[in-house]
Amino acid sequence: MKRIKIANLILVGLIMITVFSGCGKKKETNKFVIGFSQCNSAEPWREAMNKELMTEAAKHPEINVIISDGQQDNSKQVADVENFIVQEVDILIISPNEAQPLTRVVEKAYTSGIPVIVLDRKVLTDKFTTFIGADNTKIGFAAGEYAVKLLGGKGKVLEIWGLRGSTPAMERDKGFKEGIANNPGIEIIYEQDGAWLRRKGREIMENALQRFEEIDMVYAHNDPMAIGAYLAAKNANRNDKIFFIGIDGLPGAEGGIQSVLNEELSATFIYPTGGKEAIEIVKDILAGKTVEKNIILDTKTIDKTNANLFK
Ligand code: FRU
Repeated sequence: MKRIKIANLILVGLIMITVFSGCGKKKETNKFVIGFSQCNSAEPWREAMNKELMTEAAKHPEINVIISDGQQDNSKQVADVENFIVQEVDILIISPNEAQPLTRVVEKAYTSGIPVIVLDRKVLTDKFTTFIGADNTKIGFAAGEYAVKLLGGKGKVLEIWGLRGSTPAMERDKGFKEGIANNPGIEIIYEQDGAWLRRKGREIMENALQRFEEIDMVYAHNDPMAIGAYLAAKNANRNDKIFFIGIDGLPGAEGGIQSVLNEELSATFIYPTGGKEAIEIVKDILAGKTVEKNIILDTKTIDKTNANLFK
């Protein structure tokens, strides 16, 4: 008799443990857990993205966003996502460092039943819930058209790429080349991967200044690299003869808009971070609404004619 009672007690205990551990974090805290795998939190544009996303999330007390920083390292970011899968987050948001190396783990999260929002950079699969971001081919094309205008259809261009394995870099290159295609007088004389980093933009420019006597324009895939290149040219006393254009158009003392006002950059293109829209989609998914597969954000050309307005 006594033995049966003890067995029953153990059974009840086991059931309770199972029930409580099955509740997971979300029931414990009464919040939905959103895992955001950021590829590199240490860049100005991504700091702005994290801030926008967290500010928007703070308006919704029922959600709790956890940000992991991939530190521009594909394996670290894969491990971060694996972790979110183990934690059974309610939604995964990811801004993948490079497309190919992150594809498999995004598919894994999605097929395990976690809704996945891909933000700004893409992966090579359609196994995700929603993509949110601006059209980088369109931005590249606008930059190409702007280059044609600035150069009067003729000139030597240095193109500083973002990380080659990331989709915005591929698309900004493609769009730019399409934008200048009808102008055989415009020649891209040198293309290098600057990995989205200001320091690299500067190094590439130092190199190019040694190699080429004539450079008429620098097209950099983001503002930090364009500013790095500008500083190298200034140091060599060659900045006056070269146009610099970048992409991002961040406000603030260090941002691209201020660089246009300082006449360092001739133009930049606003690249919205999508942080606010990501949280709106999170809300929709949690409410059980169907969401669009692609949400394309607007861009805008900024030059000296409108920089003050945007500042
Ligand atoms: C930041 C950044 C931005 C760029 C974007 C492209 O990591 O390099 O400057 O516009 O990523 O994904």
